Order: sequence, then structure tokens, then C-alpha cells
Amino acid sequence: MSTPVLHCRDPLDSRRVDAHFAAEAEAVRRAGGDVALLDHDTLLAGDADAAVARVPQGLGGVWYRRWMMPSETYSALAEALRRRGAELLTAPDRYRSAHELPGWYATFGDVTPASVWHPAPPAADPVPPPGELAALAARLPAGPAVVKDYVKSRKDAWDEACYVPDLADGAGVRRVVARFADLQGEYLTGGIVLRAFEPFADRGEPPAELRVWWLDGEPRLVTPHPDSPHRSGPEPELGHIAPAVRAPGCRFVTTDVALRTDGVWRVVEVGDGQVSDLPRDVDPAHLATLLVGTG
Ligand SMILES: Nc1ncnc2c1ncn2[C@@H]1O[C@H](COP(=O)(O)OP(=O)(O)O)[C@@H](O)[C@H]1O
Ligand SMILES: [Mg+2]
Repeated sequence: MSTPVLHCRDPLDSRRVDAHFAAEAEAVRRAGGDVALLDHDTLLAGDADAAVARVPQGLGGVWYRRWMMPSETYSALAEALRRRGAELLTAPDRYRSAHELPGWYATFGDVTPASVWHPAPPAADPVPPPGELAALAARLPAGPAVVKDYVKSRKDAWDEACYVPDLADGAGVRRVVARFADLQGEYLTGGIVLRAFEPFADRGEPPAELRVWWLDGEPRLVTPHPDSPHRSGPEPELGHIAPAVRAPGCRFVTTDVALRTDGVWRVVEVGDGQVSDLPRDVDPAHLATLLVGTG
């Protein structure tokens, strides 16, 4: 039996797939899978039942593919789908643990840069008070660091809002964290994360990462990273990473991996495979075939 895939509809035409994802959806159909459509704008606006109104009743197990959404929104989507007889193949708690750093760090701690975080209190300044920020920084090895939230960085503003040259420079850490929080604004997800900076072998701009697509604990596809789509590295060595992928029980995840200067492959970032970008020039048939063939 083939597994259907839930895609995002075109915001202007309820019967068409969002133009960004038309090729992926077409690949699902060619692989023998049904494509159901979700109104992503309506979902984000808070009306999950209306967002899935065009999903056929009794669809059964279904993969979601495309735009990221907050973990709470994913839970609302799962509930609305269940009311129509459809079940997301990644449960909401598993989505959260693959999507947000504190969730995946619990199992990837040994294979990813050391990380600490400070949850942002609702409706308050996400930047921790100076003493707390210094205490947070002191929990990492001395040296440079990278700032992000639970899901995203501002790597586009590397010097002002992402890279901290020296964790011992309290004012410097605070400046970068504050600028990051400013740029993220209402989109800041979860809280502030500080990560020990690690030297990767390819220091291009951006350094080459590879995206590994794991399904049921197996690395089924390796693609370039969407940020460096034309660069490829050597085949990654994944033996030490596989146990971390399997531990949290997420069925479909991606790991962005980079080769550290000492020759060890490191996980830069984990994502829920349902919302990870596939680089434009990768044939979507590979991924579609995998998803349609897994129940
Ligand atoms: N700990 C780190 N050490 C070195 N470089 C890093 C580290 N964390 C992130 N980077 C660099 O910053 C980029 C963005 O970080 P990432 O965690 O992938 O955030 P985003 O979700 O915005 O892609 C990465 O692609 C990598 O080049
Ligand atoms: Mg990234």
C-alpha cells in the first residue's frame, strides 16, 4: 500500500499545490502516492479544522511535507487530522524533539557541538539578564561560540547576530545575543541557544554541509545542503551518528553534517524530515519514492 503525502496548497488556489513544491508533489504522484492538500496560512492563523477541510476523510497514516511550523501548530494539525480519520506518521512529541534543539540535543550531545540554552519567558525579553547570560556562557568550553534559537540562527548576519568571538567577553556575548533577539523578533522560537564553535574542514562561505535523510533509523538519502547546493564533500561516515538518530524514535529526520578539521563528521543541526528543504537541483523522485513506500 502506498502512503499519502500532505502538501501545502497554493495560497491563491485551493486545488493546486504551492508552486514552490509542485515538483515534489508531482514526484509523489509518479511514485504512486496520493497528495492531499493543507491550507498552511489558515493553519498558522489558528484554524486547524478549516486548514484540513480538503483532506479526504479516512486517509489513514500520512506524511506531511513542506513549510516548517511551530510545534504547537503541528499538534493542532495532528488533532484536526485525527478528527478526519488521518494520522500523521510523526507524532507531535516526536516532531518537537526533532525540530527544537533541546529535544534532539538530549540524544545527539556526543556528536554535535556543546550547547546550552535559556528558555524565553512568554511575552518577556528573551535576552537573559547579564548574570544569567554569563553563567550560561561559562558552561561551555572557553573560546568562540554561535548563537541561535531552538530552531534557527541568523547566519545571514554572521558577525553581528550569530558569531561570538570569545565567550569570556560578557559585553560581546550580550551584544550578539541582543542583536539576534532583535532580528528574530516575534519569530524567536523557544529561547536563546549558545553553541561552542567548532572548526570545520571546509571554510567556504557557507562551509559545505551535507544533508542526510534518515527514515526509520537508516540513512536513506544524502544530498547537498540547500545553502551550498553545488558543493559536495566526501561521503560522510555516519556509524557514530546512527545510534543518536535511532534513540528518540523519530521516524523521519535529517541531520546536517560537516567534517571537522580533525576528520570527525559532526552534526551541525537536526531537523524533522517533513519540513527540511530539499535542494532545488536534487531529483525529488528519490525522496518521494521513500515516503510513498513507507507506511
Ligand atoms: N557550533 C558551530 N561551530 C561552527 N559553525 C557553526 C556552528 N553552529 C552553526 N555553525 C555554522 O552556522 C550555520 C548556521 O547554523 P545552523 O545551526 O545550521 O542554523 P540554521 O538553522 O539557521 O541553518 C551552519 O550552517 C554552520 O555553517
Ligand atoms: Mg542549518
